[in-house]
Amino acid sequence: MTENSENEVSESQIAVHWREEEYFDPPPAFTAQANANDPAILERFSEDKFPDCFTEYADMLAWDQKWDTVLDTSNAPFWKWFGGGKLNACYNCVDRHAAANPDKTAVIWVPELEEDETVRISYGELLRQVNEFAAMLRDFAGLDTGDRVTLHMPMVPQAIVTMLACARIGIVHSQVFGGFSGNACGTRIADSGSRVLITMDGYFRAGSITDHKVKADEAVAEAARQGQEVDKVLVWRRHQGEYASATPMADGRDFFVDEHIGDYAGQVVEPVSQPSEAPLFLMYTSGTTGRPKGAQHSTGGYLAYVTGTSKYYQDIHPDDVYWCLADIGWITGHSYIVYGPLSLGTTTVIYEGVPNYPDAGRPWRIAEELGVNIFHTSPTSIRMLRKVGPDEPAKYNYHFKTMTTVGEPIEPEVWRWYYHSVGKDKAAITDTWWQTETGGFLGSTLPGLQPMKPGSCGPGALGIYPVIYDEDRNEIPKGIGRAGNICIRNPWPGIMQTVWGQPERFLDVYYRKYNSDPESKDWHDWPYFAGDGALEADDGYFRILGRIDDVINVAGHRLGTKELESAALTVPEVAEAAAVPVIDDIRGRMVEMYISLKPGFSAGPEMEGKVTKAIEVEIGKIARPKNVWIVPDMPKTRSGKIMRRVIASVSNFTDVGDVTTLANPEVVEGIKHQVQSAKVARGDTPRELSQTELAEIQAFGNE
Ligand code: WT7
Repeated sequence: MTENSENEVSESQIAVHWREEEYFDPPPAFTAQANANDPAILERFSEDKFPDCFTEYADMLAWDQKWDTVLDTSNAPFWKWFGGGKLNACYNCVDRHAAANPDKTAVIWVPELEEDETVRISYGELLRQVNEFAAMLRDFAGLDTGDRVTLHMPMVPQAIVTMLACARIGIVHSQVFGGFSGNACGTRIADSGSRVLITMDGYFRAGSITDHKVKADEAVAEAARQGQEVDKVLVWRRHQGEYASATPMADGRDFFVDEHIGDYAGQVVEPVSQPSEAPLFLMYTSGTTGRPKGAQHSTGGYLAYVTGTSKYYQDIHPDDVYWCLADIGWITGHSYIVYGPLSLGTTTVIYEGVPNYPDAGRPWRIAEELGVNIFHTSPTSIRMLRKVGPDEPAKYNYHFKTMTTVGEPIEPEVWRWYYHSVGKDKAAITDTWWQTETGGFLGSTLPGLQPMKPGSCGPGALGIYPVIYDEDRNEIPKGIGRAGNICIRNPWPGIMQTVWGQPERFLDVYYRKYNSDPESKDWHDWPYFAGDGALEADDGYFRILGRIDDVINVAGHRLGTKELESAALTVPEVAEAAAVPVIDDIRGRMVEMYISLKPGFSAGPEMEGKVTKAIEVEIGKIARPKNVWIVPDMPKTRSGKIMRRVIASVSNFTDVGDVTTLANPEVVEGIKHQVQSAKVARGDTPRELSQTELAEIQAFGNE
């Protein structure tokens, strides 16, 4: 079964109308210095040059041994890029720059507390730290090439050191977002088969230090419940020699890195030359079923793709100061904080805390002080900064040449504020559409060559040929205002290799739907199904509408409804649970939970609190629902499925549509009254929704 086989009606059947936005031309001063400012580049990546066009990206790397095959399709759709080639990702991101330019700043770390000093790490120093930690991973933790190790690190330079030290040896790192709970981390430890966890004692968030180590204990316990023993937990300390957590260190299992790293002082670990297709890391993401998917990314193809796209789309030059506000624990952080920028030898900035701490001027002060000229963030942060300090950017003297938005659709109004107020009409914007699975950008304008259009990501990226299909694989032509399922017709070097340990799921989720011949070795028969609804305008620009599967995109973070519901069901009194999205002006979408209780239990704030707590424990605070509604009964189909689209409509005050085919249509009015009157009383009524938002809500979780 594919993850979407239950969708009978999808966005493809819904005509979508929206106002065509006007173009913004790239600022001439930007174009003059852009890495990609000669239209010949579009020729070099035209379809008739595929797949060889991507050697331009591979040539940006240092290879120990050159590849002999650009693209091997013999085991389609498990593509192999640059087969026969050998390289080391850490060497490419550190050693080669340390040799050429040891004093050049690689990483600038900005701690959250403004009075704490900014830390600058040169390429030479980074190489030393990476070597020492790699030696500790090998000799103290006993890790070797091909082993998996789970990282649960906050936004500190030690996260980068840890990733690169793994890459140096060919240890497959699996970094879990620091905001995820111990249980969520434990599930990923078990799935990846890690026997070592690397974490930190605490970190600053909104002005105080959080106890992060406590999550390691929960994670190890959860992994053990799932059959995976963790024998070592390596704990970096936020303040060397000082322990920020109240949780005891487990004797013989937990070790402070700063108490052992001295034993490896000055050691050099030779970078292990890895086959191009050796896995570099796993990045877990949500889908339709409860079990998270470990997207497995390769060494050669992935690194080539993020290097090339960082150069042409982020327009990174070695002397730029580049700041991406994403978390290192997400794919954006891996590709466009660590691997892409460092491979190009630039300076990458990381910031520990929340963007508006201690006030809404903080990001612009950081940009001014550090001379940041490339800025990269999400629509949620932009909406938030606009709300809390629309006039703040004008007070600071920074200059961005280009700015990125990523992770969710951006409203044209918000885009304009970003352009005029943050960019001061001088920066090119790239709206980059892509996914955990895709390694790097799929859709974006080339900032020096293609005009921007608010709300549209742009055309397919270089060498990426998108197409929109309806449910029956008919191509939906551009310019007719109809949406469908966006797919990529061809493979590209950044695509994940497989779902870790679940190759069938890789086939089912991303390829089964539009593949007509499972035996085919021809890439033309294997369009990549992205799981997003989208439309293509006359000019070939794509407007991404959002997920068509059971995923809710909260502030750019993918949460599976099944994961949320399973978390709620860990509360013993809960009989049934359903998760739906509610439109939110800052976070894009938020989660609302609908719950029915087992007989004999009663609703009330205490029960609601238990459900919220369960979600925080199982997934993390980012998934905390906006509301928990305990209802006497759920609206269901005759086959007993909960009609999520009906309750989603109730939560968003939209028309519930035809409910006559339900097994229990009479419950709808009661739920509507209960939920909507409570919302009205709280002043929590939504603005008028756009056509595309309406379509999303009314089709949510289609049965
Ligand atoms: C989903 C992927 C992209 C890396 C961070 C998120 C949505 C992503 C855009 C964009 C509209 C976007 C899609 C996609 N999305 N970028 N520029 N415009 N929607 O990675 O967690 O794997 O989420 O985010 O729905 O499928 P992710």
